[in-house]
Amino acid sequence: MARTQVVIVGGGPSGLLLGQLLFKAGIEAVVLERKTREYVLGRIRAGVLERGLVGLMGEAGVDTRMKAEGFVHDGTQLAYEGDMFRVDFAAHTDATVMVYGQTEVTRDLYDARAATGGDTRFEVDNVVIHDADTDAPFVTFDQYGGTQRIDCDYIAGCDGFHGISRKTIPASVRREYEKVYPFGWLGILSETPPVNRELIYANSDRGFALCSMRNAQLSRYYIQCDVDDHVGNWSDDAFWDELRRRIPAAAAETLVTGPSIEKSIAPLRSFVTEPMRWGRLFLCGDAAHIVPPTGAKGLNTAASDVHYLNQGLCQFYGDGDSRGLDTYSEKALARVWKTERFSWWFSNLMHHYPSQSDFDKKMQLAELAFLRDSPEAQAAMALNYVGLPY
Ligand code: APR
Ligand code: PHB
Repeated sequence: MARTQVVIVGGGPSGLLLGQLLFKAGIEAVVLERKTREYVLGRIRAGVLERGLVGLMGEAGVDTRMKAEGFVHDGTQLAYEGDMFRVDFAAHTDATVMVYGQTEVTRDLYDARAATGGDTRFEVDNVVIHDADTDAPFVTFDQYGGTQRIDCDYIAGCDGFHGISRKTIPASVRREYEKVYPFGWLGILSETPPVNRELIYANSDRGFALCSMRNAQLSRYYIQCDVDDHVGNWSDDAFWDELRRRIPAAAAETLVTGPSIEKSIAPLRSFVTEPMRWGRLFLCGDAAHIVPPTGAKGLNTAASDVHYLNQGLCQFYGDGDSRGLDTYSEKALARVWKTERFSWWFSNLMHHYPSQSDFDKKMQLAELAFLRDSPEAQAAMALNYVGLPY
């Protein structure tokens, strides 16, 4: 029977980052991934890394390409009523963010895991977590026609919102909180130069729009769409025309368009499950929480979970001290809720709500004007955007 110290269920960014940090600490982990490496890397993801995640990439020894190819951004643009103002991160926080595709983060982590001989099992089926509430947990899974078992000390549930880890915690123990937003994001990836050096978040009468990028020749754009809209309803030209209508004229006039190399619609939801620990099982990332992409907090909040769990595991294996593990859920959730709040606040500020009254719209515009005119309000936004301290 196989045995390891930590079984990590899920080979997305959360699981891989944890695996690499544990490797650096000499702690053995096996990653169980349902899909193939290519499939996981085929997912389009957001592109803004908080300072904390940038630091963890360095700790994990996987920041070389990010530093070479990523873009350091020290501010962002907010547009409304045809005008734009800048929130200067560096002025208010002495910190910046790194614009670098989270798909590239995942790629760098896979490459590092392979190079360091990490044990990653792909295309596993029917993963089941057993006896997580005992001192002898184990995991079974099907692969290549047979069922395998791995005994372990701890299990990290990094298998995302649709994984099995969260549901391993008895419903009687779990408390779940959810908000579903009445709109989605239609996103397009195009091999065109970004319309602006910094990101542009736009609140327009026609709905939200976001101008982002992956590199100097790869741009990522989003427009808010109806929650029941379909990507087939949107030709590339229709997308570009609508995007132009939602961003300031100066940007619309210089926008370089081109054929989409990816186009998809994502729903928006806020979700948190508590607790994030049950016995020897610890949840990280989307397995425990989801945010609307407005604040780019999905992977960045997974990163803080991974930081706390890695700290707790290192403390335990280092000197038998389990305090880090015993306080994991409380510490992780304290930061999760603050990033849920920021993502919810930013989504409410920038989107058009179908049920919105004229008064509600005035409140949005007044808050944007306050943010434009108040250094203190911009400092609060900047601190949340670059990432709250771990
Ligand atoms: N068994 C094994 N693997 C599974 C199972 C399962 N039952 N269910 C899901 N998985 C795998 C998925 O195939 C996926 O590769 O777990 C991984 C979960 O990855 P993500 O869903 O990306 O979640 P996470 O790693 O927490 O990523 C957090 O990264 O880019 C962002 O927006 C993304 O907010 C998300 C964040
Ligand atoms: C992206 O580049 O995909 C992106 C950037 C910032 C966000 C959301 C998505 O807030």
